[in-house]
Amino acid sequence: MLTGKNITLGVTGSIAAYKAVLILRELVKLSADVTVVLTRHAREFVSPLTFEVLSGRGVITDLFGEPRTYPRHVNLAQDTDLLLVAPATANILGKFTYGIADDFLSTFYLAVSAPLIIAPAMNDQMYRNTVVQENIRLLHKRGIWFVLPEAGELACGGEGQGRLASVEEIVGRVVARLTQGGSLTGRRILVTAGPTREPIDHMRFISNRSSGKMGYALAGEAAARGAAVTLISGSSGEPIPPGVRFIRVETAAQMRQAVLAERQRADALIMAAAVADYTAANPAKGKLRRKDARLQIELTSTVDILAEVGRDKGKLIVVGFAAEVENLAENAAAKLKSKNLDLIVANDISQLGVGPEVDTNQVTIIDRKGTVEELPLLPKTEVAAAILDRLELILKTKLPSNG
Ligand code: CTP
Repeated sequence: MLTGKNITLGVTGSIAAYKAVLILRELVKLSADVTVVLTRHAREFVSPLTFEVLSGRGVITDLFGEPRTYPRHVNLAQDTDLLLVAPATANILGKFTYGIADDFLSTFYLAVSAPLIIAPAMNDQMYRNTVVQENIRLLHKRGIWFVLPEAGELACGGEGQGRLASVEEIVGRVVARLTQGGSLTGRRILVTAGPTREPIDHMRFISNRSSGKMGYALAGEAAARGAAVTLISGSSGEPIPPGVRFIRVETAAQMRQAVLAERQRADALIMAAAVADYTAANPAKGKLRRKDARLQIELTSTVDILAEVGRDKGKLIVVGFAAEVENLAENAAAKLKSKNLDLIVANDISQLGVGPEVDTNQVTIIDRKGTVEELPLLPKTEVAAAILDRLELILKTKLPSNG
């Protein structure tokens, strides 16, 4: 995805410096060429060797080190497509803001004209400090992208905003920035995937055979096209696609909560998850014991998330799935209407080569105008691409301002 892209990764002296190793690993997986710059303080937290091995190239630790290809900061600046500073301390933000150039990274910053992404991490008091906030504001005004820290437990003890944003979010921003011009750049897409699990006691649950493959393929393809993607997933063995923000859920109720919270900042929702239609009314507290010859478990229906979102969707574009065994086009079209969807992807689950665990799928895509498009049996990655082609057209017509 990032083949041929030269990224310079600046790492500064924060306890979160170890996460820069994970960021580097993800960028390398995406085929980016990454040069790592460590500040003196960063080297107190992490060893250059780790970065050297993972990036496959020398790590820059000072202005006058080896190899002596002077002026190295200018040479590297010319070769850099993007500078990512993660984690960024209050100190480096101050230096960047005022043009203090007293080490390699701060000098390099003045020489580089490539886009810049900064992911700060620090103690919450420091982060809230007026000087730090003012510096972030000024840098932001200069066109620098920020991946702001998260609220949560901090290394210094206590809680607050200051923890480095997740690796997925940071890498996602890098991908989005470097693939600008991608057909979904600037779009925020929410995808659900995988099966939910409905507990019947502490150990056991009711679930289904969904593998999550279809939803993960959609999330990966949307990210590759430049969208900011959030994937909400039930249990699945699929790897999280690169650059995708990930939320793990277990039950239908948790999936509903996550979708309702995340839909606020999405342009489109694709509900590929196999959400349970029923959940145990009263899951047993400990373990259900073997007692009688028969065991009855009372089930109650879950909320149909898709229908709920569809009822009050505002500008959100909503894509649903339908698993059918007969009268596929008719039933799916009826679901599209009743759930107020923009697109429905239906498959005939009685067919060969189609199913939750296989890598292929044969779907029919129906839109609001009643256009029915029957696709051949395809790998799920290609089905994902076809669905996103349709979605892109709808986004262009319904939300043209972003595109
Ligand atoms: N879905 C949902 N919430 C549920 C159940 C399903 O949002 N509690 C969504 C799925 O993610 C998928 C679509 O609804 O997008 C699947 O619907 P499907 O199971 O095919 O049909 P239903 O609407 O449940 O109708 P039926 O089971 O009667 O065919």
